[in-house]
Amino acid sequence: MVNSGLSSGPNGLCKHTTTQPSSIEEEGFRYGRAQGYIDAMTDKTLIPASPSEDDYVRQVAGAEALPQLPEDDPFALFNAWLTEALGKEPNDANAMSLATVDADGLPDVRMVLLKEADARGFVFYTNVESAKGRELAANPKAALLFHWKSLRRQVRVRGAVSPVSPEEADAYWATRARPAQLGAWASSQSRPLPDRLAFEKKIAEFGLKFGLGKVPRPPHWSGFRVAPQAIEFWRDRPFRLHERLVFSRGESGAWTTHRLFP
Ligand SMILES: Cc1cc2nc3c(=O)[nH]c(=O)nc-3n(C[C@H](O)[C@H](O)[C@H](O)COP(=O)(O)O)c2cc1C
Repeated sequence: MVNSGLSSGPNGLCKHTTTQPSSIEEEGFRYGRAQGYIDAMTDKTLIPASPSEDDYVRQVAGAEALPQLPEDDPFALFNAWLTEALGKEPNDANAMSLATVDADGLPDVRMVLLKEADARGFVFYTNVESAKGRELAANPKAALLFHWKSLRRQVRVRGAVSPVSPEEADAYWATRARPAQLGAWASSQSRPLPDRLAFEKKIAEFGLKFGLGKVPRPPHWSGFRVAPQAIEFWRDRPFRLHERLVFSRGESGAWTTHRLFP
């Protein structure tokens, strides 16, 4: 049974507490992981609590005017926010939700890790035969969402999706740890798995197959780039009077900006 929640820790910061083993922890035990692994992942999580009305009053009283959001280059602004998030988020500041639609137009969403962001777009890597891979093959459009709790900010991205080049995928593949490479060979991502042991057996088989040599990139593993047609920056302001700045890319490729009511 899961019984976890957020409680106020010292300095008004929130600490994730778990009073009973969750099913994830039970899984951890089953596969020989120590409880310390789970504790280490959760104990140092310091996400600020949502401000109360009193906090907002104090913030407004003591606040200096926030600098205007720069409107010249959405990627410069994105990189500045990501850099801040990397310094503040307890983990995976590059995590983003990726929304796609299936053949019936039903939306689907899951987290992936951003591996590259520049003027060409936002890149992530995955199994191209997964549900997301199949959905993107049929309808190469996606939305991304970053939510940085520690900064109380979000970034939304929408645009067309294209595969990265094989050279790009090879270069990123080469940076991955060997167990992750073997996992990519062994995982028929998004397809039914009878039990965990079947996956571990497949990993071991690929380990034997590749021996001590380099593990090549599987043909089913590569990356996608979301080329944004719009990027929205959202930042928290007291009393939920938030700020929203949208960059839209016109036909010429030039960016224009506009603001939205929160
Ligand atoms: C923080 C986080 C990061 C993740 N990053 C990736 C990733 O970069 N690539 C990936 O294929 N799956 C990643 N996953 C797993 C996906 O969320 C998802 O379970 C998996 O890709 C299968 O999705 P699909 O069945 O919709 O294709 C991540 C999960 C989490 C929670």
